Amino acid sequence: MKSISFPFLYLCTLTAASSVASGNHGLYDVRPFTISLSDGVPRMLERIRDTELPDAISQYPGNEAGISLETLKAFRNQWLVDFDWFKEEESLNRYHHFTAKIENLDVHFIHEKSNEPDAIPLILYHGWPGSFLEFIPLIKKLTQKAKTSTGKHVSFDVIVPSLPGFAFSSAPGANWTVDDSARVFNTLMTKVLGYKAYAVHGTDWGTGVAWGQFDGFNTSARAAHFAMLPFLPLTPEQLEAQNITLNAPLEQFEEQRYVDWSATGSGYFIEEGSKPNDIGLVLYDNPMGQLVWIGEKYIEWSDPKAGTSPSVLTHNEILRIISLYYLTKSILTSGYIYFQNPLGQTGFRYNYTRARTDAPMLFSAFKYNVHYWPRALAETVGNLVLYRNHDFGGHFPGLDNPPALIEDIREIGSYWE
Ligand SMILES: *[C@@H]1O[C@H](CO)[C@@H](O)[C@H](O)[C@H]1NC(C)=O
Ligand SMILES: *[C@@H]1O[C@H](CO)[C@@H](O)[C@H](O)[C@H]1NC(C)=O
Ligand SMILES: *[C@@H]1O[C@H](CO)[C@@H](O)[C@H](O)[C@H]1NC(C)=O
Ligand SMILES: *[C@@H]1O[C@H](CO)[C@@H](O)[C@H](O)[C@H]1NC(C)=O
Repeated sequence: MKSISFPFLYLCTLTAASSVASGNHGLYDVRPFTISLSDGVPRMLERIRDTELPDAISQYPGNEAGISLETLKAFRNQWLVDFDWFKEEESLNRYHHFTAKIENLDVHFIHEKSNEPDAIPLILYHGWPGSFLEFIPLIKKLTQKAKTSTGKHVSFDVIVPSLPGFAFSSAPGANWTVDDSARVFNTLMTKVLGYKAYAVHGTDWGTGVAWGQFDGFNTSARAAHFAMLPFLPLTPEQLEAQNITLNAPLEQFEEQRYVDWSATGSGYFIEEGSKPNDIGLVLYDNPMGQLVWIGEKYIEWSDPKAGTSPSVLTHNEILRIISLYYLTKSILTSGYIYFQNPLGQTGFRYNYTRARTDAPMLFSAFKYNVHYWPRALAETVGNLVLYRNHDFGGHFPGLDNPPALIEDIREIGSYWE
């Protein structure tokens, strides 16, 4: 557990929260939490400044062989000159953060309540190289009263946890799977916070956690919205064998993104799945290395128009994400999620199976994601009530196209009982 403090203000907040929810704060040692990582900033900046880089890479000046040197240098300059961690930390501390102890893990989460009495409890799961930051642009709007496309009122109590091994949540033990995380977060929602029923949203590895609840805790997880599925996407040949034809240019484009990712963009997956200590230790005290390893994913997996409205995935946001990874020292332990959930076993499975639930399932695809599931596949795995495909956004829709993701998640309200 890293840097916890207990300012008086947050104790007041906790008291207020306890009186509203009927959860069990004491038993799970729920504490308000304030981000306080400033002590690590001087070292981070020194490391960024002192890292030597080549003058030029004449053979591969673009992104054909990985991140371009020119891009890397521009990011470094911005990190040293403009980026202000203290400002970021201050803005993040405006949210209500907590930690709880569940099954010997310290679990960090944001909990923002709606003012509406009938708000739907909603937990949002990030993946790798994601973090709770991915959902910051959604939180406030989702707590507010809105209307679904069918005219129903909808609002949410929003819970955003850090997955075990990420940011302020403690690292999981050996052999910890996404299903173990699903169990822990079901405890968070039902026992710690006292909600009888809740909705889940997941993307990337968070999809595996959300699926673990949707499929495995079907009396409490009563709706799911996914931006990815916990099954390996199909190749064009496999789609053809299933008689699934992609007619729209958008669908064909998205399938090609997956083909390209498989061929030239998935090396990191193999490395983290096989030798996570190697890459984790190489990058552990190396912010520039983390910028290369993580930053490249944010650049390549997002809309080329990232950073322009409605995307809030600016270069400053990417630097904020990497600073969080570096300052919380979570590059090593976040990588374990690949090692602990081998392809085909837990996390991303080969065999498409239907979730053991009658609860509604919603799915959103985004053009520049690197994985693609057509509607015909999504409807085989659950009670699919909504499928939308967006031509703006990518792998991190909470940052890359927040209005579309908010609108789609709100549709849960059309089906909530
Ligand atoms: C994890 O799994 C490995 C391989 O099955 C096993 O040898 C090891 O004892 C397990 N560790 C724990 C803590 O369960
Ligand atoms: C695909 O269509 C062909 C021809 O109609 C049929 O023989 C085959 O069983 C179908 N395959 C699947 C997986 O539905
Ligand atoms: C997937 O399904 C096939 C046939 O339906 C089966 O032979 C295979 O064992 C399954 N694989 C896994 C990993 O469950
Ligand atoms: C929940 O799952 C069990 C099997 O795991 C199934 O028997 C039951 O019908 C499911 N309940 C709902 C409400 O879908």
